[in-house]
Amino acid sequence: MCGIIGYSGREQAAPILLDGLERMEYRGYDSAGVAIRSETKGLQVKKSKGRLKVLSDMIHGGADLEGTLGIGHTRWATHGEPSDVNAHPHVSESGNIALVHNGIIENYMEIKEHLIKLGVKFTSDTDSEVVAQLLEFHYRECHNMLEAVGRVLRRIEGSYAFGIICSDYPDALIAARKDSPLILGYGKGCNFIASDVTAVIKYTREVAYMDDGEIAMVTPEGIDVFDSELVPVEKAHRTVDWDVSAAEKGGYPHFMLKEIMEQPDAIRRTVSPRIREGRVVLDDVKLTPEYVKNISRIFVIACGSSYHVGMVSKYNWEKLLRRPVEVVLASEFRYCDPLVDEHSLVVVISQSGETLDTMAAMREAKRRGGRTLAIVNVVGSSIAREADDVLYTWAGPEIAVATTKAYSTQLVLMDLVGLYLGDLLGTVSAEGYAAIVEGIQRLPEQMSASLKDTEDIKYFASRYFNHDSIFFIGRNLDYAMGMEGSLKLKEISYIHSEAYASGELKHGTISLIEPGTLVVALGSYMPLFDKAMSNVVEVKARGAEVMALTAASRREKMAKTADSVIAVPDTLAMLQPSLGVVPLQLFAYYVALQRGCDIDKPRNLAKSVTVE
Ligand code: G6P
Repeated sequence: MCGIIGYSGREQAAPILLDGLERMEYRGYDSAGVAIRSETKGLQVKKSKGRLKVLSDMIHGGADLEGTLGIGHTRWATHGEPSDVNAHPHVSESGNIALVHNGIIENYMEIKEHLIKLGVKFTSDTDSEVVAQLLEFHYRECHNMLEAVGRVLRRIEGSYAFGIICSDYPDALIAARKDSPLILGYGKGCNFIASDVTAVIKYTREVAYMDDGEIAMVTPEGIDVFDSELVPVEKAHRTVDWDVSAAEKGGYPHFMLKEIMEQPDAIRRTVSPRIREGRVVLDDVKLTPEYVKNISRIFVIACGSSYHVGMVSKYNWEKLLRRPVEVVLASEFRYCDPLVDEHSLVVVISQSGETLDTMAAMREAKRRGGRTLAIVNVVGSSIAREADDVLYTWAGPEIAVATTKAYSTQLVLMDLVGLYLGDLLGTVSAEGYAAIVEGIQRLPEQMSASLKDTEDIKYFASRYFNHDSIFFIGRNLDYAMGMEGSLKLKEISYIHSEAYASGELKHGTISLIEPGTLVVALGSYMPLFDKAMSNVVEVKARGAEVMALTAASRREKMAKTADSVIAVPDTLAMLQPSLGVVPLQLFAYYVALQRGCDIDKPRNLAKSVTVE
């Protein structure tokens, strides 16, 4: 949700800010803006509704704005519609302070009313402008920006990452964070703040992660960090272990396609270091065998596609561990008085590690005594840092809003963790264990094989892209996988789509099947293949057009009934979703392409959802 960046150095700031914003546009893209300070012109602010390109064209790639200090923002609207005035940066009434914000200020109305009574005039509907005005109010009192920021932070409630510049400070920008991500980037003769490492990776790989309550003063010479009482804090520096090419399209027309194609390698990176001599080794996890034996219940908490990973894992883990596994949407979990206690293992899944609902749910679980294990992609993210244990998926940077390789690596990592816990509990047989390890190790090569030939899927996409409503049906793991297939399709192609448990269809939804309705019938879970076939017959009898997905060994059988069939390599039943989801991702991609949609940046969405 919203991307912010700040630069203090010796080069012209505006082109650097635009470049960083472009790399973070996946975070929000309804408006964008920059503020630059120069000796001659003071603070200059340019902002515009629409994509970053609109702003970039308006200021000629940054050439129009002179100055070596600046902040930038790409927005996903929460308070106030997407418009020029609501775009960031927001400027205080005197024009001396400019601010960019990611997050939500919950008590902004009350502060706004107070400032209005004092005669302050507002120009936007945003909660963020309130902070800029409040800052000016305090700055006038104390004439010290750090002190003024500290006072503002004590007054506001909610979540924030701020970048602030002031015309009285020629080369310093100030940053602060609480519950919204913010990294510090250490360059040569220049320093940065950003919502995400991808924005600064071209300039530096040396970063630090700001913690809640911290305030930073960034100049070309260095970055000083303080706690909320303005006491200096030492930050540990980390070196990012991937380079700029990982965050570029590399010849692909879209990030999504690139990321789909990267899945075999991503899975290899997730799995290889964690299997040694046929055993799953989770060095980073500190769960003791005693603790594991006493687990009475497992919760999996997540949002969106990460939640769908949880749905697949529920089926697999309950088989492997013989313990109840409850998968709960993070946004529901914190408000449902969850039955978490010290014997509850709470697994939190998040690509970004910043999803606010997931983080809040994790905190609630901890508060109730649960032990938290996070499955996260972004190193150093808030969820990763707050969980009792963290396992990284190592998928590399994922830029397309619709997740693909993060989903796949989460799925396989959950399989590894399930196997590891099952072994500790003694609920997995030696042969079963060995077969699953072997199956997991074969996944990358099997996935590569099916990614080599995508012609069938392109053809099906061209045949079906005009449908306005599509149903995904399946049982057990196919049902869980269908949820992800359906979400992929709707988020990037805007076709209405639903995932149904096949057996449930006849309890209502079948009334929506009419001649020509497209049903994607998932029949890759071998133990229930015959039942999947019966459901195909059932919808065919109502005139549905059926595109089926199954394992290669059943292709011919399925082709007798379905109108078109996609086959994926055979593997163990529990691993089949890892292979089955790939054609569903590709189908969504090619359908969206046929429909001329903006695939990497679908309307109304953002990749990192840091608001409730
Ligand atoms: C957004 C993204 C989804 C993602 C979900 C949860 O909606 O578009 O792709 O699954 O957030 O995000 P997380 O980073 O917590 O996995």
